[in-house]
Amino acid sequence: MKREIIQTLDGSTTIHIPEWKESYHSKHGAIQEANHVFIKNGLSLFEGKAIAIMEIGFGTGLNAFITYLESSKLGQTINYVGVEAFPVSKEELTAMNYVAELEVPEQQSVFDLMHQSVWGEQCNIDSHFKLTKRKQFFDDIVDQDCYDLIYFDAFGYHVQPELWSTEIFRKMYASLKDNGVLVTYAARGVVKRSMLEVGFTVEKLAGPPGKREMFRATKKI
Ligand SMILES: C[S@@+](CC[C@H](N)C(=O)[O-])C[C@H]1O[C@@H](n2cnc3c(N)ncnc32)[C@H](O)[C@@H]1O
Repeated sequence: MKREIIQTLDGSTTIHIPEWKESYHSKHGAIQEANHVFIKNGLSLFEGKAIAIMEIGFGTGLNAFITYLESSKLGQTINYVGVEAFPVSKEELTAMNYVAELEVPEQQSVFDLMHQSVWGEQCNIDSHFKLTKRKQFFDDIVDQDCYDLIYFDAFGYHVQPELWSTEIFRKMYASLKDNGVLVTYAARGVVKRSMLEVGFTVEKLAGPPGKREMFRATKKI
């Protein structure tokens, strides 16, 4: 499918799939969305802790990069696993402006290292952040009881409804530790029902700019 680079309303770039009318991030602001959904409502719950995170849809690496930056401030040690079946190309990555928009030119080497790291191998990004990119379909995830936090960032229900099914959320639930948390930008009733069906406790939170609501699901034991 054709992919093109667009700029979102906060100035940060994203990838757009015209055929699906779908983007990798919110058109209202890629960085704003990442900060609100995944950092404020996810990562910040674990201040000062050593945690394992799985990202569903590694894509451009924006969420991983922002997590790296924020975890330094929050005193966290992160073991980050990014699952992705269709890696973004070098040309597309070069067109992403996250280092400039986040005003961290000194961290360009970190963004580059995240993308140069070998698929399927753990890479020490620095002393507090390990990254493993896994080239894998979400259907094939079989992790059990190993993550504190999941960033669920699949394409929307309107284009890939099968990725918001009870089968996928059952896998997510199984892969979380007790009291583990899943955050997502989505807020559809059908998604909430799938989450509840597999055992999650679900909270509806205020969404990022341009979106009224989002979900946070917890594996409460
Ligand atoms: C919304 S984008 C993720 C954006 C990403 N988190 C970022 O910060 O750039 C969804 C991602 O899921 C990937 N994807 C779609 N279907 C998949 C599947 N069945 N298994 C694994 N990855 C898939 C896409 O290639 C895309 O990178």
